[in-house]
Amino acid sequence: MRFEIHPSVEEGSRQVAVRIRDLIQAGAAEGRNVVLGLATGSSPLSLYAELVRMHREEGLSFKNVITFNLDEYLGLGRDHPRSYWRFMHEQLFDHVDLPGEQIHIPGGDLQADEVSDFCRGYEEAIRSAGGIDLQILGIGRTGHIGFNEPGAGRNSRTMRVTLDPLTRQDAAGGFGGLAHVPKEAITMGCATILNAREIALLAWGESKAEIVAEAFEGEVKDEVPASYLQEHASVTIHLDEGAGKLLTALKPEDSLARC
Ligand code: GLP
Repeated sequence: MRFEIHPSVEEGSRQVAVRIRDLIQAGAAEGRNVVLGLATGSSPLSLYAELVRMHREEGLSFKNVITFNLDEYLGLGRDHPRSYWRFMHEQLFDHVDLPGEQIHIPGGDLQADEVSDFCRGYEEAIRSAGGIDLQILGIGRTGHIGFNEPGAGRNSRTMRVTLDPLTRQDAAGGFGGLAHVPKEAITMGCATILNAREIALLAWGESKAEIVAEAFEGEVKDEVPASYLQEHASVTIHLDEGAGKLLTALKPEDSLARC
């Protein structure tokens, strides 16, 4: 794993945006699509703002991009103010030239008997797009990636999951109280995420310091699904000083880049 400690969220986000821009432009030059796995939450907000800026000011085109979002709350329609569908459109998709049919987000309004076919189809769509070139991740305080909560198996695939009480508590503010936070979600599985050719995880602020140290310096275990990333061949963990402050291995001889 490679750790990068950035002086600010904006600088870290800019570096990830540059990596995405390079992938998109290399794909376009070779006439092929680039498949991005995308995340929601506060962590990628600056990244999406920078990609929108690159589109507007530098002419970065998203026409050869196919996206797959990690997850969605179950029980929320697309127009719900807290749906990830809406989040992604407001933060990124409405502001760039990505064709709508190239956007994939798990369905929040599926009926119970539609979920398993949907999940199989989502996996199939990722495969037929050629697999994910770069997966963007945040990390929840439970150690979740996507909505793979403690106990999620290493080999899990896109599925319906129950949210951890801490995850629901963390989301309560945005929903106007815990009672309004959905109890379930659909998420890409851990194996789906780990199949990505490259992964960039973003974590900002001291509130992430404890789980960052546990996930990336602790034992690899299913109680902390993010720890599976330690076994991936191409992962960069982008942190600010706050999120990295409990890592003990950050010495110059380690694979650390201080930007
Ligand atoms: C949600 C999302 C995750 C995200 C996590 C962290 O639970 N399902 O994909 O990584 O929140 O959120 P934030 O970036 O706001 O800290």
